[in-house]
Amino acid sequence: MNIVVLAGGNSTERDVSISSGEGVCSALRQKNHKAILVDVYFGKESFGEELFPEVYDVKAEADSMREMSKLVEETGKTRKEFFGPNVLSVCKAADIVFLALHGANGEDGKVQSVFELMGIPYTGTGPLSSGMAMDKGITKMVFEAKGVPTPKGVTLAKGKSETALSAYDMNYPVIVKPCCGGSSVGVCIANDDAEYADALKEAFSYEDEIVVEQFVKGREFSVAVVEGKAYPIIEIAPLQGFYDYKNKYNAGSTIETCPAKITPEQTSQMQTYAELGYKVLNLQAYGRLDFIMDETGAMYCLEANTLPGMTPTSLIPQEAKVLGIDYPELCEKLIEVSLK
Ligand code: DAL
Ligand code: MG
Repeated sequence: MNIVVLAGGNSTERDVSISSGEGVCSALRQKNHKAILVDVYFGKESFGEELFPEVYDVKAEADSMREMSKLVEETGKTRKEFFGPNVLSVCKAADIVFLALHGANGEDGKVQSVFELMGIPYTGTGPLSSGMAMDKGITKMVFEAKGVPTPKGVTLAKGKSETALSAYDMNYPVIVKPCCGGSSVGVCIANDDAEYADALKEAFSYEDEIVVEQFVKGREFSVAVVEGKAYPIIEIAPLQGFYDYKNKYNAGSTIETCPAKITPEQTSQMQTYAELGYKVLNLQAYGRLDFIMDETGAMYCLEANTLPGMTPTSLIPQEAKVLGIDYPELCEKLIEVSLK
């Protein structure tokens, strides 16, 4: 197939996305697809006649995208200017666009809306559910209404909402998150008033809406769901602190175990909640739901990721491996289920 792997973008997860895209593009080539890596932010300046050359250096492309990351920060382009000049024409020439984007303007439904309007096939969930899952406050409301356990929490709007925890019947510790962020960027745990004030400031520096939720101390897990069915659960145990940006992307800072060492009952319960979470948000093709379980065994779904990390060592590829599906096969499978 002719495949465009779309990555980069202007979110706080640009660098992670470039790594996902680089991995996916190489893997699809191993499976003899004609795949090219394209930066959604800058487009591709030099396609010439050959949109899908036989030999194309994915690593060089990823490296040049990494170099451009600095430019992204400096240009501060608006959302309207977001799409690179010839991204759409390149995507139109593909059989499918593999979305390796993460975070704002990639995972939140905007790119998906454009592709729907243009009739361009793409991987993963459609616009509306992508938008809902991107917003941790909306996700929480849907989960609460539909019986997916989730920590108590509230969405606050900058300068408009009461911020005192007593107004929401919550107490320390709490965890403060930008509403639509990813990879834990801007996320802080607060144990007292001073930390809470700092956490609010930090989260509001990223977005005008944030979520404050009751912090649950416990073990962290993640569950991929593909076509409605849960994969084996992976446990994520950071050696220090919680699974924040540093622990997510620094090799050796986190121990990841799949299948997670929890009881068969807990496994089946968490997988059921993951499948329910996927269903009630109306996710399509695949997604990954993140959980925490406290010492009493109570489990809570923290969020759903519609375009989760897809580097060869990311969580979903590790889960797939337990099922005997290697990374290139997984990349192909995600295309196959998205085209159904
Ligand atoms: N937001 C990151 C990429 C993840 O969920 O894997
Ligand atoms: Mg996320």
